[in-house]
Amino acid sequence: MKKQLKQLPLVAGNWKMNGDIGSAEELLTDLKAGLSANAPKCEIVICPPFTLLQHVGKLLNKNKYLYLGAQDCSEYGVGAYTGDISPRMLSDLGCRYVVLGHSERRTRLQESNVIIKRKAAQAIHEGLIPIVCVGESLNERQEGRAQKAVQTQISRSLPTGVEPSELVVAYEPIWAIGTGKIPTTAQIAQIHLTIRQSLQTKCARGYESVRLLYGGSVNPQNVGEIIRIPNVDGCLVGGASLKGGTFCDICLAY
Ligand code: PGA
Repeated sequence: MKKQLKQLPLVAGNWKMNGDIGSAEELLTDLKAGLSANAPKCEIVICPPFTLLQHVGKLLNKNKYLYLGAQDCSEYGVGAYTGDISPRMLSDLGCRYVVLGHSERRTRLQESNVIIKRKAAQAIHEGLIPIVCVGESLNERQEGRAQKAVQTQISRSLPTGVEPSELVVAYEPIWAIGTGKIPTTAQIAQIHLTIRQSLQTKCARGYESVRLLYGGSVNPQNVGEIIRIPNVDGCLVGGASLKGGTFCDICLAY
């Protein structure tokens, strides 16, 4: 059997519904200045709101470490879906990645595993790499159901038969997002191992090299410890990705 090449770790910045043209320019100027002095050993993805994709794409142009990503996409290819944005439209703008199934969409918009799975399949079909988010609620964690909750999300929201380079999974415990709280190293290790094992049924081959990100209150102070945890191949960063210098420090932890 052919051995899968290990992929570079991935650091993704999810701007959520933040930023405008001015702040995007400032952020990317700072980030690129930081990266020009120190070469990072990871891929970096910037996921701005839809309205800034084209502008940010132009600003990223010609930087070999930086990629563009969106925060959601339609489950459909083309047609009468008012307000939706298809994966092909995102590729057309130069996106390589798309975040799917973020807990803010799962909970607030009742996005189901079934829909997330369809979106992921459509994104892969159009050549985008979905970053599919999974993670337990505080109740599930406190009641000892975290592992089961994540396993169920993996089983129901990921398509089958995928190549390891076509997919990224992000473990984001809901209670750690934007709160400054993070799980213990042992808790992250346990869930990442569970995700890794669950991927065996999803990947045609090479499930060991699918990149698994940790997300939830990552910052320059805690990233060093997080990226050393087994089966953590990068991180998904929200709040700390909104300042070029801070995000750069996280990327340079590699
Ligand atoms: P945070 O958000 O880093 O602000 O906790 C992470 C995320 O929601 O992706």
